[in-house]
Amino acid sequence: MRVSTLTVFALCVGGSIALQNGLARTPPMGWLSWERFRCITDCATYPDSCISEQLYMAHADRMVADGWLAAGYNLVAVDDCWQLPQRNATTGQQQPDPTRFPSGMAALAKYVHARGLKFQIYSDVGTATCEGLPGSLGHFDIDAKTYASWGVDSVKLDGCNANVTDFRKLYTEFGRALARTGRPILYACSWPAYIDIGSTQLANFSEIAQVCNLWRAYDDVQDSSSSLYSIMRWWGGKAGTAMAKASGPGGWSDADMLIGGDFGLSFSEAQMQFGLWAVIASPLFLGNDLRRIDPQVAAMLQNPAVIAISQDSLGRQGTIVAALSNNDVQWWTRPLANGDLAVFAACISDDQGTFFFSNATLSALGWPHQSAHVFDTYAQKPLAMVTGVLSLTLAPNLSQLVRLHH
Ligand code: GLA
Repeated sequence: MRVSTLTVFALCVGGSIALQNGLARTPPMGWLSWERFRCITDCATYPDSCISEQLYMAHADRMVADGWLAAGYNLVAVDDCWQLPQRNATTGQQQPDPTRFPSGMAALAKYVHARGLKFQIYSDVGTATCEGLPGSLGHFDIDAKTYASWGVDSVKLDGCNANVTDFRKLYTEFGRALARTGRPILYACSWPAYIDIGSTQLANFSEIAQVCNLWRAYDDVQDSSSSLYSIMRWWGGKAGTAMAKASGPGGWSDADMLIGGDFGLSFSEAQMQFGLWAVIASPLFLGNDLRRIDPQVAAMLQNPAVIAISQDSLGRQGTIVAALSNNDVQWWTRPLANGDLAVFAACISDDQGTFFFSNATLSALGWPHQSAHVFDTYAQKPLAMVTGVLSLTLAPNLSQLVRLHH
């Protein structure tokens, strides 16, 4: 790998036409069970990790007690495997497994609401969820009404077991069913995730943005840096640029859960994911165990300077401005409401031994001034005053997130 200076492009980002249901004016933040707890249903063997009301109640409690809610994480998200394998024979409704959710979903939503949090549920646009439980196809109205009656604030609608060519019709219809309930319900779609995998064709993100508040793109995150880096490379390609044009207040591109605090990432890698997710205005869904998280990682994921970038009111999805050394060093920028510029640089290579300087001219970053004050967002303190060139220290699996101001 060579140390290089950017000589590249600034990017034009057009206006977005997002779903205007008043929700998701900034990227949602919360905790979602899937990455860490998957489809564990054996509560006898795994009482602490099975998908049960206890798991969600314990996380709601931790979110309040440990500063997550105060930092902005305000959504508790149920994922797959909450249901019984059959709908209710009389009402036709999906039903929670009564041994794992004995109080029912309305009671769980109430518990979550009582703590100042919002509640998300999971279903699928097809005949079955990805884990084979009842999907919503053919039951859009009853499911939407059921969720509204339970007090659900957000629905993640997955895309397994349906024909991708029907997605436009189906996701649109389900969105209409949600709107008909009269309850404001955030609509998180997995639509592009099923188009992008294994295909060179990109989803039509601007069309999706008119239907959904969130769109999960690309493959599921797994608990490893190789998974993180494959997501970063994909977002650093033409998909990221296309998504950025569609994203903005009301509709966001979802890069999947934050895995900091799990098993697969070093501290620096977890920080890299968090920093980039803030720059690309992805929702910030924690995918870890808040009862067992390392305090240093927790503090990192609550860093207010990073969260301020994520939640910036201008609502621009940051884009890559340079991929150096065969895409192993990435530079990304995100313009902010007050005229500042967030600049993220990361080394996602392992063929570099120690620290090195990566340099970018301010003009290549799209910064309109000769000089800039540089604020170190991770350390939450001023770093330098620079003229002409910004030089950031990187190392393997290390990133920097700075904020330029005039
Ligand atoms: C898909 C989704 C994941 C998760 C699982 C549940 O893989 O992309 O986020 O919801 O289904 O089965």
